[in-house]
Amino acid sequence: MISSSAMPPDTGATVARPARRCHSNPMTAAIRQAFADQADWARRLDAPFTEQLCETLGTIIDESTETGRRVLGWRGDPRADALVLRLLGGLNAMVRGGEAPSLAALYPPNPLPDSAMLATGLGATLADPRLLPWLDSAPQTNEVARSGMLMPGMLVIAAETRLPLRLFELGASAGLNLRMDGYRYDFAGQISGPGDAPLTLAPAWQGPPPPLAPVIIIERCGVDLAPVDVRDPAGRARLLAYVWPDQTARIERLSAAMAAFANDPAPLDAGDAAPWVEQHVAPRPGTATVVYHSIAWQYFPRNTQARIAAHLKKLAAAATAANQLAWLRCEFEQANAPRPTLRLTMWPGGEDRLLAYGHPHGATVEWLG
Ligand SMILES: C[S@@+](CC[C@H](N)C(=O)[O-])C[C@H]1O[C@@H](n2cnc3c(N)ncnc32)[C@H](O)[C@@H]1O
Repeated sequence: MISSSAMPPDTGATVARPARRCHSNPMTAAIRQAFADQADWARRLDAPFTEQLCETLGTIIDESTETGRRVLGWRGDPRADALVLRLLGGLNAMVRGGEAPSLAALYPPNPLPDSAMLATGLGATLADPRLLPWLDSAPQTNEVARSGMLMPGMLVIAAETRLPLRLFELGASAGLNLRMDGYRYDFAGQISGPGDAPLTLAPAWQGPPPPLAPVIIIERCGVDLAPVDVRDPAGRARLLAYVWPDQTARIERLSAAMAAFANDPAPLDAGDAAPWVEQHVAPRPGTATVVYHSIAWQYFPRNTQARIAAHLKKLAAAATAANQLAWLRCEFEQANAPRPTLRLTMWPGGEDRLLAYGHPHGATVEWLG
């Protein structure tokens, strides 16, 4: 995932904030700013430990370690490359894996640490060469709670088409949101989903409830540039490393979903979404073909976006009442948007509908219907 370090864990939203230090090197100043911006996002998302972590890292990181030299000398765009989130993921992985016990003593669930102690613990871990590989790869998340935003969209599609659904997810990560019919939902008291589901998603709901309709999924598959295999313990550990350590509800949700579907993951292909869509997405009579994505579109190259839109436009021309096509998007509409929207276009018809406003991690839904 090409994420942003001036944003919540996997969104492209940016926040302007003055840099804490003044540096002659503009790149170094931009990188320290990225830590400050990430701290700001952590504060907004009620993650005080992560806020403190980002602030401390942005202050103490220097060129005395290889990690510090690589971070401060970063050649790419620290925001687009999610540089801060790479480092946070590596530190968290070391803490979770027992490789940094003195730092772990300062991490949640322990109380917020003393700033000087955190600076010392971080300083020691920054010198550990096991941190370095984490700078090489983009963060990878799979936020299961986004099913709490996507499922209401599927309910609309099911209610309006009365057809079984074929799901094609773009930027699916580990495919946990392709398993959305395996979760239980509480939408403002409207309960649905299996009684023995591994987790219940109950976003704070505003507005009328979504339609009630049977969502019958007869086919599901996805694509991701770097799909995560939840059957592999290393894949599961990697996903958990990128969840902020003070976001315990997210950690619990992700762990529960991975445990439930580790033996039966949704089928995923590796690659860019555009050729995959062109090769795989074709309507089938008697079904609704649903292409969807959550917090993924912003990472697709422009050419990929254009090819996907063009392919859907081509298919849309042949859609009929018995052979429908839907495009459901849970995405940030602008780089600095505070929350994502849920949009749906269905063919035949082709009207672009704003269904809801959401939350980066699925905590709230403002349903417009
Ligand atoms: C922020 S993650 C969101 C994952 C998942 N949709 C969710 O909501 O949890 C974005 C995903 O898009 C994938 N991605 C980025 N560029 C891509 C591309 N060109 N084609 C396919 N997947 C891509 C990343 O690998 C990453 O898994």
